Amino acid sequence: MIRHACRWGDEMTDVSAAFAVEDVAPDLFAQVDRVSGISVEEFVQRYRKPRRPVVLTDAMQDWAACGRYTPEYFCREYADLPIRSGDREYRLGEAIRLQQNATKDQPGPYPCAITDCQAFVRDIMPRFDYALPNRHTHPLVPELIFNSVSHLDIFFGGPGNNFPFPHYDFLHMHGWVAQVYGDKEMTLYEPGQEHLLYVDPKKPWRSSMEYSKDPDYERYPLFREARSHKVIVHAGEALFIPCGTWHTARCLNAGISVLFDQLEPSNWGEFVDEVVGLRRRAGQDAKGLLIGAYLRMLGPLLSVAEFFGANRRSDWGLH
Ligand SMILES: [Fe+2]
Repeated sequence: MIRHACRWGDEMTDVSAAFAVEDVAPDLFAQVDRVSGISVEEFVQRYRKPRRPVVLTDAMQDWAACGRYTPEYFCREYADLPIRSGDREYRLGEAIRLQQNATKDQPGPYPCAITDCQAFVRDIMPRFDYALPNRHTHPLVPELIFNSVSHLDIFFGGPGNNFPFPHYDFLHMHGWVAQVYGDKEMTLYEPGQEHLLYVDPKKPWRSSMEYSKDPDYERYPLFREARSHKVIVHAGEALFIPCGTWHTARCLNAGISVLFDQLEPSNWGEFVDEVVGLRRRAGQDAKGLLIGAYLRMLGPLLSVAEFFGANRRSDWGLH
């Protein structure tokens, strides 16, 4: 049992928590806690294990990016950086200006992200302990299984920019939204509502609904019944989105977020199942079985290595 004082809304409330994995239930989402000063052990027991989202208000306090990263900073220092949004190429400075001059009805380019973050790692160090261990960059975990999906992005957005479809993070990874500048509204769907989300059978990690403003409830009437909770992530705060949590995002103003994924022992089994499923849907059953067998064998070995301190690189393992 953990006895702990945390902030719920404006009140300091004394809460007790002793969750187990099987306790995952909709009411865990009824209130997204905003906490500071908790230990990694508390985080694991109260949030990661029961798969409960949480906003950590002090996890990024050592990041140079907080305070330095503004739209103006990127327009000044990285204006010519090529950026792809949809099927168009932009220069970063151009994309940010379009976002800054956007309105809710006429949004700027989105999604709009730097995916090669090597040059920026020094500003977003350390990868905080709550987001460790992480298995992405372990040499025995082959990069090809991630299907070229980036694990670390710096995202830019402005008024009217919405992530266009509900989804959970690819391959069942935990998602982190570290808000460096501006405010982002995240909508988190309670677990067990796939029957209301119009899951794409070919891409079961995302909904087949796409919308930039409001969903088409006439076409997708069940979606109206889906229970969700909104949480606003402010500059300097980090939101933990447990693996498998369906969510969308909306930029409330000009904002910069560092988005990254986490792969660790508790979501390894589901990750492996998704890797195998991905191959199966691509008609590569034998390859999928082989990769699955290898990864299932690798999991316990990585856990032993992690006991001795592996997969804890605070420099994101990009060097
Ligand atoms: Fe996501």
